[in-house]
Order: sequence, then structure tokens, then C-alpha cells
Amino acid sequence: MINFLIVLILLLIIITFWCNYRSTKVKWSVENISIDRFKFPSNFLWGAATSAHQVEGGCTNNDWVLWETAYNEKGMPRIKGGQKAGKASDHWNRYKEDIKMLKDLGCNAFRFSLEWSKIEPEPGKWDKSVIEHYQEVCETLKQEKIIPFVTLHHFTNPIWIWNKGGFENSDTVRYFTEYVYKVGEALGQYVDYWGTINEPAVYSKLGWFLGIFPPGKRDVSLAARVLFNILKAHAEAFHALHDIDRFDADGDGVPCRVGIIKSIEIFDPARRWFVPDWYVCKMIDRTFNQSTLDAIQTGKFIFKIPGVVSYEENYPRLENTLDWIGLNYYTQKLCKFDLRSEHKFKIFPDKKLPKTDMGWAVYPQGLYRALKILNVLGVPIYITENGIANDKDDLRKKYILNHIDAVNEAIADGIDVRGYFYWSLMDNFEWAEGFDKRFGLYHINYKTQQRTLKEGSEVYREIIAASKKQST
Ligand code: GCO
Repeated sequence: MINFLIVLILLLIIITFWCNYRSTKVKWSVENISIDRFKFPSNFLWGAATSAHQVEGGCTNNDWVLWETAYNEKGMPRIKGGQKAGKASDHWNRYKEDIKMLKDLGCNAFRFSLEWSKIEPEPGKWDKSVIEHYQEVCETLKQEKIIPFVTLHHFTNPIWIWNKGGFENSDTVRYFTEYVYKVGEALGQYVDYWGTINEPAVYSKLGWFLGIFPPGKRDVSLAARVLFNILKAHAEAFHALHDIDRFDADGDGVPCRVGIIKSIEIFDPARRWFVPDWYVCKMIDRTFNQSTLDAIQTGKFIFKIPGVVSYEENYPRLENTLDWIGLNYYTQKLCKFDLRSEHKFKIFPDKKLPKTDMGWAVYPQGLYRALKILNVLGVPIYITENGIANDKDDLRKKYILNHIDAVNEAIADGIDVRGYFYWSLMDNFEWAEGFDKRFGLYHINYKTQQRTLKEGSEVYREIIAASKKQST
């Protein structure tokens, strides 16, 4: 018995050393960063990102509108304080001014999403005026020499899709593909960069695992099925766009490049010396980060949490459906093995790190690590979201500097990063959190819709200017 215990302890020590060795802490000084030291390729894309429901206003026909008037089991509104997106940032009417704001920052790219519920308000009925609106947005971008990065699905669905079960129902894949064909045909003349789905794993996690996004369910097997269906939708959109968009809008010889937008959270063990914490991290990372990436590479989708869920499916048309990958990076979380909690683990932010208004830990090294994770896919990486909710605007400057410094480090180490989009161009409707969380480079006064550049955002303009100067 004693011998067995000694062997076990030795084994645990060896595994602990191995884990620590395999995942050494990434560290470099995040103080005194000099912009002039940055080296970005001359064709690097500098941009900002938005999504339709969060900024446009007038979204009256999607599932989020239903959610905004719904209540939870305790009789509380689903959105903090019962807020509704309503007019949001009125981007639908003010897009010209907003594009001008991008230009003023020196940006050469803009990520925005199309609102499916406006384009196809009823099955097979296309709203011509809405399609023309998006064409006008693209035309304005073209005149300003700003490259459009178009997201096709950013969390919202038309109500009619919702009534059919949304992505719980695999028929939605077919409806989504029809919509993609339609917009691919209408906007292909302007758009070369298409992002199919925003954060598939976050979408399924928040809606079907944590229950804080519609439909507010807590059913892990269903979460797995939704994730699989939405990945199938990505695959079909990939093939549809390559089929329909033959127009090389930017004249670089490639008419259409399709990617997916993946959120990567960095999971680290709360106790680096405790093997079960490493195990929990690995498992969570597999489920929320790796399963999606593997599925897109191999066509095989495996979603497993021992004792909780075991889901496996094949979809060969999903294999290698990436021309680029979008990275949304915000934070790191610590994981802990915990016998008392429901799923036997806990996830929480590191107490020692500064927090954003979302309660997220600020950890720029995580952006470098996330880029390393995606680098194995072997396709160009665009950082499609990175930013901070910070109403006081006292952390924004440092956040931007530190994170772009991490991108600079990654490029210096040979990682193929081709662009950075700050989230978000302006303050907007932050889903279940409502309007209180202010991520914008520009502040919005919601009474007047007046936009004002925040002091903390100035550094972004300076970085872009410095990188342009360098490459001329
Ligand atoms: C997401 C979305 C954005 C959010 C942003 C801040 O990641 O949830 O892509 O719509 O607003 O990430 O939470």
C-alpha cells in the first residue's frame, strides 16, 4: 500500500512538472510600451467591429426582440433593467457618419453584420430596400477605401426561423444557406471577406448551457446539437459563397475568402500544482475551444464532458472550410476542480488581475496565446474582436496598447496575423447587459445619439498612424 502511495505521489509530481513545462506562463513587460517599436506589415488591416442588432436600431423581427420582453423563472426581465435594443446606436441612419469616424481613426477595414430578419422578413420573401441599404453601406466604404468584413450571423435569427426551432432544427441550415446565396449574389461585387458565424460555441453556450441568451435553456446535449447544426451552416455558407461570389472586389486576384469567427478564452488552472485543476482546464478548453476548431478541420464533431455530455457527429462537407479564421479575444479564466458544484468544476477570473466593467480579467498575454492556438490551423488570422467595457475610460488606453503589443509579439514570432478590429466602433447594446457596458472607441450619448471619440481611444489612431508611416 505504502509503495502504491509513493508511486502515485511521484506520478502526480511528474505530471504536475510536465503540465507546467508544457504550458509555461507567457510573460513580458507590459509597461513602457513604445508605439514606434511596433512592426506591422504594410497591408495590415486596422479596423473596428459592430453587429447589426447591437448598433443598427429598428430590429423588430428577430428572436432578440422577443427576448427583450421576456421574463425569467423569477419574474425578472431577461435584459438588465428590462432594457431593449430599440434604436440602439442608430447606425442604420447614421452609417455615413460612422464610416467617417472610422476614416478619422485611419482605419482601412470595417467588420459589420447583416441582419437576416430585415433581409428575409418571411420565408423566401426578400426585402429589396434592405438589400439596397447594405449595398449603399458597401458603396460608401468603397469610396472611403475601407474593406468590408461581413458577418452573416451574429447571434440573431428572424422570428420565423425561431418559430421553427432555430438551430435546434437542422432545417435551419438549409434556410440559412438560401439567405447566404441571396446576400452573396447581392453584395459579392463589394465584399471579398465573409465571416459566416460569430462565435458558434459562445452562441450555443449562452443560449443552451447557461441560459442567459435566447432560448434560455440549460440542456448540454441540446447545446451540443445547436453547435453542430451551426457548424453545418458554416460549411454550407462556405460552399455557397465560393459558388456565388466570383467578383474580385479588391483586385487582389481572389474573389472570396470565407472564415468563421471564433472566440478563444484562455483557461488556466487555479492551482498550478494541482493536477485535477489541469484536467478541468483541458476538458473545458477541448469543449469550448478545440471541438469547433477540430470539426472545421476534419469534419468530425466531438463534444464531451465526462458524466455530463457525450456527443459525436460527422459532416464531411465541414472539412477544411476555412480561408481565414477570426479571433475574438477578451480574457483569461481560471478553472478549479470542485466536488460541491453542479458540474464538478468552477470557472472564474483571476483576482489578481485588473477587471473590465464586464468583470473580465485584463490579460493581454492571453491574446498572444490565443493566436498561437489558432496558428496551428495554418490559415491567416484576423483579430475580429478585442476591446474593453470601461465606462470611466481609465483603462482603455492601456488595454489597447498592451493587446496590440501582444499582436506585435505574435507577428514577430512568425504568426500570420493580418488584421485587428477593435470591439467596438461605438458604444452599443451589449446583449443581456443592455447599454451600460460601454466598449466603444466612440462614446454615444443615447439621448442625442451624439458620438464623441473617447480619450482612451486616441492611442488607437496613433498606433495606426505610426504603422502607416513605417510602411511608407
Ligand atoms: C460577443 C459578440 C459581441 C459582444 C462582445 C462583447 O463576443 O459576444 O461578438 O457581440 O458584444 O464580444 O461582449
